[in-house]
Amino acid sequence: MVYQATASAPVNIACIKYWGKRDTKLILPTNDSLSVTLDQDHLRSTTTSRADPSFTKDRLWLNGTEEEIKPNGRTATCIAEMKRLRADLEAEKPNEPKLSQFYVHIASKNNFPTAAGLASSASGFAALVKSLASLYQLPSTPSELSLIARQGSGSACRSLFGGFVAWEMGSSPDGSDSLAVEIAPREHWPEIHALICVVSDDKKGTSSTSGMQRTVETSTLLQHRIKHVVPERMKVISEAIKKRDFNTFAKITMQDSNQFHAVALDTDPPIFYMNDVSRAIISLIVEYNRVSVDAGGPLKAAYTYDAGPNAVIYTLKENVKEIVELVVNYFPQANQFKDPFGLFGSDGVQ
Ligand code: DP6
Repeated sequence: MVYQATASAPVNIACIKYWGKRDTKLILPTNDSLSVTLDQDHLRSTTTSRADPSFTKDRLWLNGTEEEIKPNGRTATCIAEMKRLRADLEAEKPNEPKLSQFYVHIASKNNFPTAAGLASSASGFAALVKSLASLYQLPSTPSELSLIARQGSGSACRSLFGGFVAWEMGSSPDGSDSLAVEIAPREHWPEIHALICVVSDDKKGTSSTSGMQRTVETSTLLQHRIKHVVPERMKVISEAIKKRDFNTFAKITMQDSNQFHAVALDTDPPIFYMNDVSRAIISLIVEYNRVSVDAGGPLKAAYTYDAGPNAVIYTLKENVKEIVELVVNYFPQANQFKDPFGLFGSDGVQ
């Protein structure tokens, strides 16, 4: 008999960025972070896991191509951790089939082109852990599963929840308190939307993993950020989300994106993730907000950039049409996804 289960997980985009590890094997961060999980339908990974006594080794396919599972690598760690949880369950329930002793075959695909330049590791590892949890019929909560997804890729732990999610860095050396928690479900603030502007689909120059390690080793600004900036921002943005205060949410999101890129620049040698188009989009959003603020109104949009040049713009539903028109007007290529600059996902977060 073949045992099989399928699960999906969406991409998440951080408003307070995770950048830096205090333990590279367990993937324990140097600061808390907070993100918004995007709409399931638009950007997600879907993973099917199978267990069968006839399988002769664990195998993995990503978007149809088989990938090597490196011994002691991140995928191997996640699979081993999930098998351990299944073995615990089998010890409690001796009549359950011994799935923990079978090899697994895992196939994962993204519903967005890898060439879109969007990180797929967050949704990928979250979907992998969810599909194994379903295959193994584990009673684990999303926070418990986040402990394992975290060991695949740090940001993956936040994709176990929809809506607004914090990753609490924790303090335990074994990582047992470094997990994701829900700040608010997506239904709490459905008016928030995310626009994703694909500025370039080139593979990024410096990976998040190696870039953040170099920052930990060389940046003094990172130490200031960890100690004196992020803790306060986590409090203020969590409150803003609870109160649906877009003005504060937007202000902190932009400040934190700016500081993350400042920390990248403070790394030796410096890391540049944004390009001229990224900076032009920042100017556009700053100007768009200034017009509103000068008229006595609130901030209407927030830009944020991860470890690459693509912009994510958070805004309220009522402004989506206006912003899309503005972006397309200034960057005419923007509505062609395959071109160097594409725009999609206008009904992102909910
Ligand atoms: C800039 O989660 O990709 O997107 O843990 O080494 O796999 P690893 O790094 P990863 O880093 C994400 C960095 C970021 C900020 C964020 O998502 O919080």
